[in-house]
Formats: sequence, structure tokens, C-alpha cells
Amino acid sequence: MKMFRGVCLLLTGVFALHSVLQAQENKLAATPPMGWNSWNHFAEKIDDATVRAQADAMVASGMRDAGYTYINIDDTWEGQRDAQGVIHANAKFPDMRALSDYIHSKRLKLGIYSSPGPKTCGGYEGSYGHEEQDAQTYAQWGIDYLKYDLCSFNDSAMNPAGSPEAAHQLMLEAYRKMHDALAKTGRPIVFSLCQYGMDAVWRWGASAGGNSWRTTDDINDTYERMEEIGFSQAGLSAYAARGHWNDPDMLEVGNGGMKPDEYRTHMSLWALLAAPLLAGNDLTKMTPETVALLTNREVIAIDQDPLGKQGDRVRAEGQYEIWVKPLAGGAKAVGVFNRQSAWMKPSQIDVDFRMLGFKGAVRVRDIWQGKDLGKIDGVYKATVPTHGVALLRVTP
Ligand code: GLA
Repeated sequence: MKMFRGVCLLLTGVFALHSVLQAQENKLAATPPMGWNSWNHFAEKIDDATVRAQADAMVASGMRDAGYTYINIDDTWEGQRDAQGVIHANAKFPDMRALSDYIHSKRLKLGIYSSPGPKTCGGYEGSYGHEEQDAQTYAQWGIDYLKYDLCSFNDSAMNPAGSPEAAHQLMLEAYRKMHDALAKTGRPIVFSLCQYGMDAVWRWGASAGGNSWRTTDDINDTYERMEEIGFSQAGLSAYAARGHWNDPDMLEVGNGGMKPDEYRTHMSLWALLAAPLLAGNDLTKMTPETVALLTNREVIAIDQDPLGKQGDRVRAEGQYEIWVKPLAGGAKAVGVFNRQSAWMKPSQIDVDFRMLGFKGAVRVRDIWQGKDLGKIDGVYKATVPTHGVALLRVTP
């Protein structure tokens, strides 16, 4: 009996510890991470001064107050390892600790980038064989977010593995290894997996310790690529939850390659997908329209909704699509998309709220128009421009 009780106590202890750890992990990225990343606009032309200027602009533009927090340095910061194997930043980043102090003094957080392979995608030093050491270095620098990009691990470790199963196992272990190394530092560091959606990462990304995982290859600043990526996310909603998000790649809003309607589609879709909102433009050179797109509080509230449910496609009728995201308290965000060719006229698209799971009259607000449409019973005819969207908040 005594022994039985002892075993029970031990098990309770183990479960308690497990749930404390789980709770800690889920608190990290409890809602999709928001911030900025250097890659889409600056690529390799990123340095200490530019990062500081982006942080200043994030505050001055009101983006921080709208919820954007992380300032993430992507690839090309890496220098050499010293005789002890400790990684140093290259000349573009003379003092990483001073930079992180600066970012933190602005009430923002700092992110960095590495690879499980020996080299990053840009050919810089990766973390292979130095995982614990690098995690410790990041913690000492005051890093809050790590994007861990597969790249050379594919060629150097996975391709020679002999079978797809063995390659998959190696990849999983490589991600777990860095997750454990980060956890060991005791510093909360968001762990962002980047391996372009291989092997249906949404099925195992959370078990590898990922707070988010890229579901696709790289985005670029064209409607075609954004559309291809965004609408390909249908069916993935089951795999996202608080602490663990599908990541269809960073935002291109403000980089200039898309029309306002197209950027509204980009923001709306990413919010419905509960995607990380990582701006990828130059925050020091934003038009008022770009600031308005990035900081629309109601759009951000959809993305950051505390229920933590990703939206999904519920109807497709030719080039018209309706996506729905359940929100806390029984409301739903509804995106009505018109994917017809840009030269066509705007369409009237029927939105039958009964088909979206509502009974009786509903209250409808058009978010981009900032207009309450009142109570609607039955079908609403949304006028939607080509490549554009009507984003609605529907309350029973
Ligand atoms: C890959 C990633 C990009 C970026 C580059 C950097 O292509 O998918 O997001 O990080 O590497 O080299």
C-alpha cells in the first residue's frame, strides 16, 4: 500500500512537472508571434544600425502599440567560431549584447537565425555540432526568438541517410536537439522551425518543440506568390493551437509589389490563418496606407484572438472563396475572397450565414470599411474587387 502510494505521489509529481513545463511552453507564443524580420526587404544588407532604426520606427509608427514585438535578424549576421567553438557575430554586428539591450530598452524583443546544418542558407556558419553552445550564447546575448532554418542539413545529413524515414528521423532529432538546448538555458526563446513544410511538418512540428513552423517555401512580393501560398493553407487549421502555429512565411505588406486590395487580401488571409505577423518591409519608410494596413486593430484582433483557432476554407465556388475563423465568445471572422483576374470587374458574392453555421439574424461588421452593416438574416451580398477581400466580423 505504502509503495503504491509512493508510486502515485511520484507519478503525480512527474505529471505536475510535465504540465508546468507545458504551461511554460504554451505561454511562449500563446498567440501568433508578431514583429518584423530583416529578410524580405534587406536580405544580406542588414546590420546593427539598420536593426536599431527598424526598432525605433516600430515604436514611432505605432506598430509596437498595435502588438508587434519581435525584431528579428535573419541570415548573414554570423561570423566565425573562436578556438573554444563559441560563435561570434561578423563585423556588421559589433556587439550583440548591446544591440539586445537597446531593443529591450524599447520594450521590444530580439530574434536571431541559425541552421541545424553546418551552413545556413546564405552559406554562413550554422549550429551543427554546437547546438548547446549556440543556445547558451543566444541566451547570454538576450535573444528572445530563434528561426532555425534547415538548409545545409538537408544535403549534409538527410540526403545520405539512406531512406526517407531515416532522413525524417534525423531532421526531427536535429530540431528537438535545439529545442532542448534552448530550454536548458532557462530563457524563454520562441522556437521557429523553417524547413519549408517538408514531411507535413504541421503534423509533428509541435512535438519537435516548435512554436511555429513554416508550411511553405519562400514568399515574395507578388500577388501570384502570396496567393499561391495563402490559399494553399486550406486544411491545416487542425494543427494550430496556442503555442504552436502554422507559418505561411513573413509579410510583404509595404514592399511595393502588390496593390492595396492585394495587400488587404494578404493581411486578411494571414489573420484568418492565425499566422505569425512578421512585417518584412522597411519600417523607416512607410506610407500612411502601409501603416494603416499593418496596424488595423480589428484585423490584428482576429489573428491574435485568445481562442487560438486557425481559420479554414469553408466554401469555394470557382474563383470565389469563403474562409472562416472561430473567435472567442462565439463570433466568427469571415473572409470573402475574389480570386478572379485583376482586369475583371468587382463581383457580388453571396454570403449565406446559415451555411457558415449561424442560426437566425447575425450582426455584421465590415472591418476594412470600418462599418457596421447592422443585423442580417440570411444572405449578404458582398461586393468584392478582384484580388480583394471583404473581411467581416459576424456575431450571433
Ligand atoms: C531561406 C528561408 C528564408 C530566409 C533565407 C535566408 O530561404 O526560407 O526565409 O531565412 O533562407 O538565407
